[in-house]
Amino acid sequence: MSQLIDGKQISKQIKDELKDEVARLAAMGKHACLAVVQVGNDPASSVYVNNKKKACAYIGIESRSYELPEETTEEELTALVEKLNRDEGVNGILVQLPLPSHIDEDRIIRTISPDKDVDGFHPVSVGRLWIGEKGFLSCTPAGIIQLLKRSGISIEGKECVIIGRSNIVGKPMAALLLRENGTVTIAHSRTKNLQEITRRADILIVAIGKRQFITADYVREGAVVIDVGMHRDENNHLCGDVDFADVEPHTSAITPVPGGVGPMTIAMLMNNCVETIRTQEERA
Ligand code: GUN
Repeated sequence: MSQLIDGKQISKQIKDELKDEVARLAAMGKHACLAVVQVGNDPASSVYVNNKKKACAYIGIESRSYELPEETTEEELTALVEKLNRDEGVNGILVQLPLPSHIDEDRIIRTISPDKDVDGFHPVSVGRLWIGEKGFLSCTPAGIIQLLKRSGISIEGKECVIIGRSNIVGKPMAALLLRENGTVTIAHSRTKNLQEITRRADILIVAIGKRQFITADYVREGAVVIDVGMHRDENNHLCGDVDFADVEPHTSAITPVPGGVGPMTIAMLMNNCVETIRTQEERA
C-alpha cells in the first residue's frame, strides 16, 4: 500500500504551529508584517495573493496590500520596493510574479532587501542556500522537505532525482536535498535517457511542467514520488505532472494533486515571515 502524502494536513499543522509561535512572539512585543505587492489583475495571481493574505490573517501576521495598475512602470515599482525596504514596520516583501512584460522581474527581485526576501528569490538568498548559510529558503522546495520529513521519509543517502531546473523549484530543491545528505541528480527537458535516470530514484521530484507526463515506466518499484505540477485534465479537473492512477500502485509514497505540494508553498512563506521576527532583538 502506498502512503498518500497529505499536504493539506501537513500545511495545516505547520500553520497551527506558526500561529502559536506568533502569539508567543506577540507577547514579547514582536510583530510580523508582510507587504504583498501585485501589479495588474491576472486572475491566477489574485487567487494566490488572496490565499497568502488569508494565511497571514489566520496565523496572526499583519499583511499590507499594494495593488498597482497594469501600466505601473518599472521605476514606480522599484520606488515602492525601496520604500518598503526602508520601512521598519515591514518585515517581509512579496512581489507576486509574473510581472507585466514591460517590467524586468530579475531587476525587481534584486531590489528587494535580502533581509526581507521572504520568497527566497534574491541572489543573496540563493547564494546563502548553496553555501549552507542561514537565509530565506525558496518556499516550494522547503515545503517538499517538510512533506518528506513529516511523513517519516528519510533523505540521507537516498538517490534523489529532480526533473526540472527552474530557479524557483529545481535548483533550490537540489541544494536542499544535498543539505539533507541526499545524492542528487537534476534532469531536464534536454536530458537523454530520462527513464533510465528517473528509474534510479528513491525519491523522484517532478517539476517538468507537462501534464501527466510521468507514467509507471519512469518509476522504480517502491519509490517516493513528489508531484510539483498543476494542470487541468480533459475533464477540467486539477492534475499534476504525474499520471497518478498509473504511478501510484508502484510507489511507497506519493503526493496527490491537488492537496500535495501546493498547500505547502504558502505554509513555508508564512514560516519565512515568522523567521523575520524570530531572531530579532527584543524591543525595549
Ligand atoms: N508566482 C507563482 N508562485 C509564486 C511565488 O512563490 N512567489 C511569488 N512572488 N510569485 C509567485
